Amino acid sequence: MKPAISGWTKVLGIIGSPLSHSLSPLMHNAALDALGLDYVYVPFPVSPDRLGEAIQGLKSLGIVGFNVTIPHKSAIIPYLDRLSPEAELAGAVNTVNREGDLLVGYNTDGAGLLVSLKEDLAFEPGGAKVLILGAGGAARGTLAALGNGGAVSITVANRNREKANELIGHFAGVFNKIEFHSISLEVLLSAEHLQRFDLVINTTSVGMNNTSFNGFSGSSIKGVSASFYDMVYAPPITPFLELARLHGCRTANGLGMLAAQGEIAFSHWTGLAPPRGLMKSCLLTAVKGN
Ligand code: ATR
Repeated sequence: MKPAISGWTKVLGIIGSPLSHSLSPLMHNAALDALGLDYVYVPFPVSPDRLGEAIQGLKSLGIVGFNVTIPHKSAIIPYLDRLSPEAELAGAVNTVNREGDLLVGYNTDGAGLLVSLKEDLAFEPGGAKVLILGAGGAARGTLAALGNGGAVSITVANRNREKANELIGHFAGVFNKIEFHSISLEVLLSAEHLQRFDLVINTTSVGMNNTSFNGFSGSSIKGVSASFYDMVYAPPITPFLELARLHGCRTANGLGMLAAQGEIAFSHWTGLAPPRGLMKSCLLTAVKGN
């Protein structure tokens, strides 16, 4: 049991907007409770125009560490004192740790994704050919993680093709041994295209509220042997995953990534690992209950 909140209690939290659906307070407080640590993890809704003030405030109030979510993952960078190499490469921060008087930004999303790909899909990026759907912040973090993990070919498909080109242009300068391509989202219409990949990963918001990619259907996926990963986890089985599952492909949603990035963040703040599997089981229970 966690001690009652007192003058000794250390504060952790999350900043983002909106935060009402965030499952991070639930899983972090469960882990703090399980280890009997005198910390509390609190949601702090922060609008984009108050970000600088909020960081100053959190620093003044002596916060030990916090998570950063949409829409602040990149915008927070100028307010931090130092970045880890992973955060620098991803151009995004999801975890901040106070180290002495400095606020240090980390990106645990990338490592969390690799843990989840391994545990949930038995997928190792070394030597793999990957198709990434989307070219926003989440796609950028995914490219960084898979590039570091040893993927040999990365293709980005985005509704706005310009953005896909910009993204691969940036990473081509970082990973010069990887083959990069951009392609239109129509790649999802043809099994002939999809057969070239070992992993297809959705980093867009398509799938939330049961939305699906236009035209993605049974005939697009017939005979395809790729694994399919969807960063969306509510609903737990998006139409994208449902179709892949029906055609015998391995599938996983983003719950494993959410839990794994949280476990790494927790260790940065407390120096301790949360009980194995606890965060994921909290998330599974919460998502099933919705
Ligand atoms: P995040 O940081 O979560 O990645 P983002 O930077 O706003 O968020 O990026 C959102 C991504 O989802 C983009 O790739 C966006 O495509 P565009 O660049 O063409 O806008 C993609 N996206 C959002 N809604 C989409 C939809 N209905 N169909 C296809 N792609 C969509």
